[in-house]
Amino acid sequence: MNEKRFPSGFLWGASTSAYQIEGSPLADGAGASIWHRFSHIPGRVAQGDTGDVACDHYRRWRDDVKLMKELGLQAYRFSIAWGRILPEGTGKVNQKGLDFYRALVDELGAAGIEAMATLYHWDLPAALDERGGWLNRDVASWFADYAEVAYRELDHGVRFWATINEPWVIVDGGYLHGTMAPGHASPYEAMLATHNVLRAHGEGVAAYRAIGRNQVGIVLNLEPKVAASESEDDRLATIRTDAYMNRQYLDPIFRGSYPEELKEVYGEGWQSFPEADFEVIGRPIDFLGINYYTRGVTAADPTVPYERARRIPQPNAIVNAVGWEVHPNSLRDLLVRVSEEYTKIPLYITENGAGFYDPPAPIDGRIEDPLRTDYLRRHFMAAAEAMEKGVDLRGYFVWSLMDNFEWAHGYSKRFGIVHVNYATQERTIKESGKFYSEVIRTNGGILKRK
Ligand code: BGC
Repeated sequence: MNEKRFPSGFLWGASTSAYQIEGSPLADGAGASIWHRFSHIPGRVAQGDTGDVACDHYRRWRDDVKLMKELGLQAYRFSIAWGRILPEGTGKVNQKGLDFYRALVDELGAAGIEAMATLYHWDLPAALDERGGWLNRDVASWFADYAEVAYRELDHGVRFWATINEPWVIVDGGYLHGTMAPGHASPYEAMLATHNVLRAHGEGVAAYRAIGRNQVGIVLNLEPKVAASESEDDRLATIRTDAYMNRQYLDPIFRGSYPEELKEVYGEGWQSFPEADFEVIGRPIDFLGINYYTRGVTAADPTVPYERARRIPQPNAIVNAVGWEVHPNSLRDLLVRVSEEYTKIPLYITENGAGFYDPPAPIDGRIEDPLRTDYLRRHFMAAAEAMEKGVDLRGYFVWSLMDNFEWAHGYSKRFGIVHVNYATQERTIKESGKFYSEVIRTNGGILKRK
């Protein structure tokens, strides 16, 4: 009676990204990416880890599709490495790179698994970075040209296209704080990169309208911000940090402008842009992908650059291995907010999951990860609650299909529902993965209401 089933047709899947799992970054004529370069700079990634081997998915993809089948996944979200297809970023197409993704897409189709392809999950071709990368206005047309090549080759088997994964992380890590590739730290560059990433998205959508037959959207990472106290300073800090992380992207895509508060965040780095750009950025999309991991309880702190706000750790909260608070109700609230304030187009959770302290190796063939199972269970329930409140949520992709290269953390953080032994490349479905299989098999029927 008190079981929770999801609407029929609800799509259950899992996500990965190219640089995080593929390995063989330069194989078959691929051009180096900014992440390949960045991870090879000593001190940039924990333990000196790189994506050189990662999960060796570039060679083991067939087995990985079998694994997806074993899990019962209905959909798989992966990303395409731009530099495999266009080694220089523009110009000459590398057929071998296209062949890799075509084979993957066809294998998914044969397995009855829907494909969601992300065109950009942070691995810009290094050759384009040398021409200014996301700071060069031309990047929007470079991206559209690349997107078109991918659409032409793969649209037959890709039901959902996501242009860009998480513009906020691209900009915050890559251009404002320098913690991620390409490692710049400048408010002027950050604002410019935001704008060009969004223009690229818009041009990618336009290119799809000309030739595509399925759906195109974008993936944003959104994080509800709540004030740590009722003080006026904390209230304003919360508005600022919400503008920076969430509205910086939601507003131009759905409302045609940047939030005013961004001026306070970027200070002298603030710029204004031609009105016509916002028409490009706001081109109608078919779905919005939302990545949700945590919330941010926020207090004013004038010593923190740009945002002048700080995240306040919560007493008694469960936090994951990356230090993120587990807070499922914020997922529900976020979905309701997006649906009430921004858009009625279908929503997909394109990433949700947690890096926890898993045992480093299977014990009696099992990886017990009860915290991850609990995390997923509670977030699935929160998503169901959002749907009861009228949110048009169509699917859910868990991050991640398997443990992988967790960017600046290297291999030290494990987010997978499948464990990867990096020495042998052996995969073991974790207990959370088995739980997820049951959720999928019963379409949520095994989830108990609390
Ligand atoms: C990214 C993933 C990443 C995950 C966990 C998201 O920001 O899209 O690539 O692994 O979060 O940090």
